[in-house]
Amino acid sequence: MVKEDIQELNSLTNLGVSSAELEGNDEQISRGLGIGLFLKAAISNPRAVGACFPSSVRVARTIAEQVQQKANEWVVEVGAGTGVITQALLEKGVNKTNFIVIERDPKLASYLRERFPQLQIINGDAAELKKYTEGLSVSTVVSGLPLLSLPKDLVKKIGQQFLEVLGHEGRLIQFTYRISKKPSPLPQGFRRVFRQKIWRNLPPARVEVYQYQN
Ligand SMILES: C[S@@+](CC[C@H](N)C(=O)[O-])C[C@H]1O[C@@H](n2cnc3c(N)ncnc32)[C@H](O)[C@@H]1O
Repeated sequence: MVKEDIQELNSLTNLGVSSAELEGNDEQISRGLGIGLFLKAAISNPRAVGACFPSSVRVARTIAEQVQQKANEWVVEVGAGTGVITQALLEKGVNKTNFIVIERDPKLASYLRERFPQLQIINGDAAELKKYTEGLSVSTVVSGLPLLSLPKDLVKKIGQQFLEVLGHEGRLIQFTYRISKKPSPLPQGFRRVFRQKIWRNLPPARVEVYQYQN
């Protein structure tokens, strides 16, 4: 993280991180910078980020509990933001060699690379998921994408990619801020097999799992 980034973030977020402090608690500062970067991305592209803050640890852990990964299967996370869910997935035991993380915002993607040097982080678009996972057996896609605020045609394309990458066996884990219990906008065939409301999040969220069913 370069000095100019920190100065820019300070002016945007009032984090008040000084260069001298950078010598101190690296983890806390890095987390603060992550939140600053997230906020900056949210301000410049609100529909693509779809939230003012990263998800809570409670949401991230609820998602991680839903992941099933056998040997040789891959887990893909799309829309990773600052990596709250990524961290929970690693803590839950997702195999880091069979784990791909995709984030479209370039600054968030480079933050993720610094935070998780052991992982394959792609600065790319979930709408091209098939390209990034060619030849891999993907058992789970974890999506932090704001499906309700992204443009409809993009959501359609992304949903189709989810379906093709996961096939009939895989699981899609998605979270939403939708108040009604209506399912997320996904292609026909995806059925919701699990949902759980998480109040400890700003705003409260719902974790959902989808699977293809005829
Ligand atoms: C609601 S935030 C979730 C961030 C993180 N997963 C969390 O829970 O804190 C949505 C994230 O999706 C990313 N994003 C939006 N559209 C995307 C796309 N088409 N492909 C990949 N990432 C995308 C945004 O840049 C943002 O980081």
